[in-house]
Amino acid sequence: MSVRTIGVVMNGVTGRMGYRQHLVRSVLAINEQGGVTLSDGDRVKLRPVLVGRSAGKLADIAARHAIPDFTTDLDAALADDDNLIYFDAQVTSARVKAVLKAIEAGKHIYAEKPTAESAQEALALAEAATAKGVKNGVVQDKLFLPGLLKLKRLIDGGFFGRILSVRGEFGYWVFEGDWQEAQRPSWNYRGEDGGGIVLDMFPHWHYVLENLFGRVESVYARAVTHIPSRVDEQGVTYQATADDAAYGVFELEGGVIAQINSSWTVRVNRDELVEFQVDGTHGSAVAGLRNCRVQHRSATPKPVWNPDLPVTARFRDDWQEVPDNMEFDNGFKIQWEAFVRHVLEDAPFPNDFASGARGVQLAELGLRSSAEGRRIEVPQL
Ligand SMILES: NC(=O)c1ccc[n+]([C@@H]2O[C@H](COP(=O)([O-])OP(=O)(O)OC[C@H]3O[C@@H](n4cnc5c(N)ncnc54)[C@H](O)[C@@H]3O)[C@@H](O)[C@H]2O)c1
Repeated sequence: MSVRTIGVVMNGVTGRMGYRQHLVRSVLAINEQGGVTLSDGDRVKLRPVLVGRSAGKLADIAARHAIPDFTTDLDAALADDDNLIYFDAQVTSARVKAVLKAIEAGKHIYAEKPTAESAQEALALAEAATAKGVKNGVVQDKLFLPGLLKLKRLIDGGFFGRILSVRGEFGYWVFEGDWQEAQRPSWNYRGEDGGGIVLDMFPHWHYVLENLFGRVESVYARAVTHIPSRVDEQGVTYQATADDAAYGVFELEGGVIAQINSSWTVRVNRDELVEFQVDGTHGSAVAGLRNCRVQHRSATPKPVWNPDLPVTARFRDDWQEVPDNMEFDNGFKIQWEAFVRHVLEDAPFPNDFASGARGVQLAELGLRSSAEGRRIEVPQL
């Protein structure tokens, strides 16, 4: 068994996702466990090269984690042949330019979602990567959440019979920033900076729906800006020009209807920040980030509508918890390991730029549906 090290250029590591999920919980965690194991037993460690706009912030992170390489010069990092992979977790609006540069430099590319702000640009990235012959992948972390893995297990095991519908509820209250600091970056609420909950969340819903239930054939969505002004990181009031809630209906191949509410303006009265209820002829399930509860047709109560009587049934008690049956690792880390194997030994990696582009396409069509007030068919890209 041999151990080798490859360089990974990481752009946007001062951000929420870049730092916590990708640098600390994925790349550094992989090295701590001894690297990524390849099919022949060899191991690969990752040498992060931190890239960003602020040398000071990069130096802080580098010192905190004893990382020798950091620079504000993306071109220099890309020019180094030892750096095989370029990873991008910058703000969405900065992604396309940097990724195109990295493709041109012959790097294999792994990027946060959405891969671009428009379907046309997202598709252009996929085409550029294919033309250059570089591997490409997009973060689709929700597929690796324990709750959704359990849901997938139920689908694969035939639990549902014929699936009829999916109802997703995502969201939480994001503070306006005046009397309590906002817990999301202000660019999320400015359309001109790549913000908006549709562009943020519809790419997630797309790969979840496509992978678990079938191709998304049409979308009807209403995107709104409920909170018109917010206060930014500097304490300055700004106009919220992007949608902060979206109410969507998606029709899937095979006739499954999915309804998903996405909102940064909702107070949580659920067990988890996202939950999907799936109803099928033989059973139903409610899956969250970690947990999944089921009710089989044989254990389904028979409620009778009578508003004159108080409700005595405790409906939630009639559901059963799906056991873990396995250890769940961090989803971002699992996907990093899969991408490294994809780059080094051509292992399958279905979460490519083409699938990322389909996610951006759904966001774009969702926004168009909202603007035009109509249901829109999703053409095959
Ligand atoms: N997979 C997920 O679950 C998930 C969750 C949240 C965000 N994201 C995606 O990750 C990306 C980063 O989101 P985040 O929440 O970490 O954002 P963030 O604001 O916390 O971080 C953004 C990063 O981009 C850098 N940056 C580069 N150019 C910039 C510019 N012109 N203006 C401002 N910052 C610039 C910042 O310095 C910072 O490192 C986004 O594309 C977002 O859609 C993914």
